[in-house]
Amino acid sequence: MKNKILNLLTENNNKYISGEGISSSIGISRAAVWKYINALKEEGYVIESSTKKGYRLISTPDLLTHHEINKYLHTTLIGRNLVHFPTINSTNIKAKELCESNIVDGLVVVSEEQTAGKGRLGRSWLSPKGKGIWMSIILKPEISPMNASKITIITAAAVHKALSELAIDALIKWPNDIILNNKKVCGILTEMNGELNKINYLIVGVGINVNSDTKDLPDELKEKASSLLSETGRLTDRKKLMASILNNFEVLYFDFLKTGSFSSSINICRNNSAVINKDIFLQEGNSVKQVKVLDISNEGHLIIDENGVKKEVFSGEVSIRGLDKYI
Ligand code: BTN
Repeated sequence: MKNKILNLLTENNNKYISGEGISSSIGISRAAVWKYINALKEEGYVIESSTKKGYRLISTPDLLTHHEINKYLHTTLIGRNLVHFPTINSTNIKAKELCESNIVDGLVVVSEEQTAGKGRLGRSWLSPKGKGIWMSIILKPEISPMNASKITIITAAAVHKALSELAIDALIKWPNDIILNNKKVCGILTEMNGELNKINYLIVGVGINVNSDTKDLPDELKEKASSLLSETGRLTDRKKLMASILNNFEVLYFDFLKTGSFSSSINICRNNSAVINKDIFLQEGNSVKQVKVLDISNEGHLIIDENGVKKEVFSGEVSIRGLDKYI
């Protein structure tokens, strides 16, 4: 009901609509209209009320709700269903819980804040309220589990494209980080539930530090992590960025499902790589070795030179870092 009122106010384009008009077009009492209007005001919608003229929407809050994202979304599947939380432990955990009862392909879980955000390799992920995009996409692709890691590459390419559209020139640190000025501003955590040769579902968690202040980061992260705000000096519209990531993701993902090839995503990752032609430390479990990155293969693997021997590295459990800085 609240959303219907919101739609009417939005369609009315900042013009007044009478309480009577709202109540008759959605079939509720004027008292109920008043109650929902107040609820919307509490969520941060600025609505002007005039006894003579009715209600007028003045501005919308900076929230990643379905209503706010939908106006920028051009997808047919991804984000068409969206569940929004003001706060949650982790959107990946919530997505998994939802999948236990019903797997909805393309459903997005997003929260303004995470109290137990999960990073790769068992790390945690800081997710302050209203400062970033903390979301998980549920997917049910009919692909081999061996190809699941390609979805991370596709996501990184989608985030990169979305940032480029906002004139933010980022780099991709294979396989799942987005880098600005040598610091990480976005990470991707893809989790899979499946059998040997079947994926039941994938959860693609994307965390982007958008308008957060790096002053709030713990000291050990200050060298490595940052936000779009700190690196560009300007605030970014979270709604537009989130919708653009979903829009770009759907195009690249559908292309992969249709053709089996993900060359467009690979090309984005190659052309904007933070690691190709660099000497790096490659960590696999407890072993750390120094290697040179030569390329990213068409399968999305890292091609490295280890003491003159050419090798391929799979994304699985490796992590990489620069010789003297994060990357
Ligand atoms: C990384 O370690 O680089 C991956 C970070 C992934 C963080 C995102 S935020 C939304 C989603 N929910 C989580 O708990 N983690 C991912």
